[in-house]
Amino acid sequence: MSHTNPWSNPSTVGATEAAKMAAFLEENARLPDQSQVNAMLRDVLAPAPGERLLEIGCGSGALCRLMVPSIVPGGHMTGLDISPDMVALARRYAADTGTADSIAFDTGLAETLPYANASFDGAFAARLMLHVNQPDVVLREMMRVARPGGRIVLMDWDWETVAVDHPDRELTRRLMHWRADHHGGNNWSGRQLWGRMAAAGLQDLTVTPVVAVAHDEHSSLTQSLWRAAEVSREGGALTPDEHDAWTSELKVRIAAGRFFASIVYFIVRGCRSQWV
Ligand SMILES: C[S@@+](CC[C@H](N)C(=O)[O-])C[C@H]1O[C@@H](n2cnc3c(N)ncnc32)[C@H](O)[C@@H]1O
Repeated sequence: MSHTNPWSNPSTVGATEAAKMAAFLEENARLPDQSQVNAMLRDVLAPAPGERLLEIGCGSGALCRLMVPSIVPGGHMTGLDISPDMVALARRYAADTGTADSIAFDTGLAETLPYANASFDGAFAARLMLHVNQPDVVLREMMRVARPGGRIVLMDWDWETVAVDHPDRELTRRLMHWRADHHGGNNWSGRQLWGRMAAAGLQDLTVTPVVAVAHDEHSSLTQSLWRAAEVSREGGALTPDEHDAWTSELKVRIAAGRFFASIVYFIVRGCRSQWV
């Protein structure tokens, strides 16, 4: 279904591209819609002083750094990523922000975590499950390395929850469907997290949907829409004229202060049984 997806391993596209992807993650984490989503993820995870927490697919480490103030004193974060380039950059960002003492970054596979059973009080993965081929294997590994009763939190967007206020419904639907089916991994991952975690036997499941809303250029979603239009044109779903017409209309709306788009992120939390 999806084309080559560099987010499955940024190091496969080379160190320079991986550095651009890390910079993209850092920039995104500063945008208001992503700050809102990330803050909600932290609230759902509820990190506490002294805890040992693990992030799988940590990228540039923005979320690991976000958790640090909540786990000190005495706590420790571990971030793991498949890409050695990402891990090196995550270490550098942590050093630049004074959080390096509280975070260890490891290169490794989410499918075969290099940690002993029950090593962590909680494990989370954000914007990862949509990019892996075996999400159930990853989830089982997260459960294995969490202590009995430990928390597991997963978060993904669901691209087919995107709502864009655009007058051309047919063109908008065509673009959105093409983007959802052909770009950036499994774009239904968000809606699948709950069932996946229930099937894995996690307990006390909660789901927190977060609606990220964009009204201008300064949101991650708006940037994703430009990219969606571009890849849909490249993929042949839109003609160049249709691409230009669709994006021009949105730019007019942005300039006039009447642009609206939204997307839902699903944050699902569960606990590993006390008795396994
Ligand atoms: C979209 S980024 C998200 C980064 C971070 N979680 C965040 O929300 O800012 C996905 C990350 O998952 C990593 N990744 C993808 N597949 C992986 C796998 N099988 N094992 C470990 N990391 C993986 C990628 O290298 C990338 O850094």
